[in-house]
Amino acid sequence: TSTPIGTRPMMGFNDWARFTCAAQARLDGTRTGYSFQQFMLDQAQAMKDTGLVAAGYTNLTVDDCWMQRGADGHLHGASTWNSGSTQPGFDADLTAYANQVHSLGMQVGLYSTSGVNTCQGVPGGVMGHEQDDANTLAAWTVDSLKLDNCGTTGADRQQEFTTTANALKTATAGTSRKILFNESAPAGAGPASAAKYQTMDWVRGLGQMWRVSPDIAVWHNTTPMASAWDWPHGGDYYEGGVLQNYVDTVALARYNGAGNHNDADMLLIGDNNQLTQAEQRSQFALWSAMGSPLMISTDVRKMAADPVAYAPQLNILKNTDIIAVDQDTTAGGYLASRQSATETSGVDVVVKPLAGGARAVVILNRNATATAYTLDLGRIGFPNTGCARTAKDLWNHTTSSVQGSITVTVGSHDNAMYTIDPGTCGAAAPTGQIQAA
Ligand code: GLA
Repeated sequence: TSTPIGTRPMMGFNDWARFTCAAQARLDGTRTGYSFQQFMLDQAQAMKDTGLVAAGYTNLTVDDCWMQRGADGHLHGASTWNSGSTQPGFDADLTAYANQVHSLGMQVGLYSTSGVNTCQGVPGGVMGHEQDDANTLAAWTVDSLKLDNCGTTGADRQQEFTTTANALKTATAGTSRKILFNESAPAGAGPASAAKYQTMDWVRGLGQMWRVSPDIAVWHNTTPMASAWDWPHGGDYYEGGVLQNYVDTVALARYNGAGNHNDADMLLIGDNNQLTQAEQRSQFALWSAMGSPLMISTDVRKMAADPVAYAPQLNILKNTDIIAVDQDTTAGGYLASRQSATETSGVDVVVKPLAGGARAVVILNRNATATAYTLDLGRIGFPNTGCARTAKDLWNHTTSSVQGSITVTVGSHDNAMYTIDPGTCGAAAPTGQIQAA
């Protein structure tokens, strides 16, 4: 018998959106001989010290540029992975690293790609080395693999992801260990296209989670970014933002469920400076209402060093009521209404069915000014039957009795979020659901 893995959306840390491969960003320009793996271990320690590990953020994924293909053909840590370190165990074998991550109560995630070169041109991808790399990961006690798209297209990509999925299973066969397979494949297919739906059909049989939207805006070390809120799709680089990634992901709610997670990409909550606090709250509410993985990409070392200054961000990330919505695998969240030709409020309503007939609802204000909004609860499946239900406000931590509608004023780019318990009143099918465009 084997224990299922990845039943609930992954929670943890990934260095990419905040740091990319820019060593200088990781080093903060101040430390020499500071290796990439020490940087990851420091982020892990900070995750623990800030209480984020205890809150459930336990996967530590190192993204692109950690690896090299050794002269022996096997996978090894890059020279920057080990740079200058004189500490024992800091070598090209990642077993000691994995032991340290595990001792902090976290799981080890590594990155690779389906082709030969990674998206940053590092010749460490799995192509031609699938079984050997899977065996290496198993030997190092790695817990998850993020497999990117670079180097493959079309049928070639399906074949490569299938080969790698099988290699991971073979590498751990007969052991109690499993390696979670995190597939980027659907993100390469663009929004709402035939190729996207075709890709969605095959990734589900191979892994537990998959990127469905563009890359969430990355921190530009040298070029300050105006905003990561509505950063548009952009040419080949294909950069997204909170709104774009949400719109692309919410359209795929029907693919979500236990062990099947649409990944809207990393959380920009922390020191990223590209989102206002209202926008950070909204990213967290939307991602949780969609049942997306919650992967923090920020400098957690800074939050650990000054938890008072970063209390607003830590309070968002540690909101247990909202995490519980994310981790409820009853269904994915979908749009019950949004701005359209007939609805011009600039307010979106996202609903997520929860266990026991309850529902979570996010009322998102996309407008540039505060907006008063009245939600007809019939639209989310709680019609007025003359019976009061209990609503919990997940940001203000208050409960109230609701019947018929909820009226709330929401700040610009902010949201109100509730869970509503049907109690003995029962629930109906939501109305007004807008199908994916
Ligand atoms: C792609 C992925 C990103 C990140 C980079 C690394 O763009 O979508 O999440 O992994 O590659 O190069």
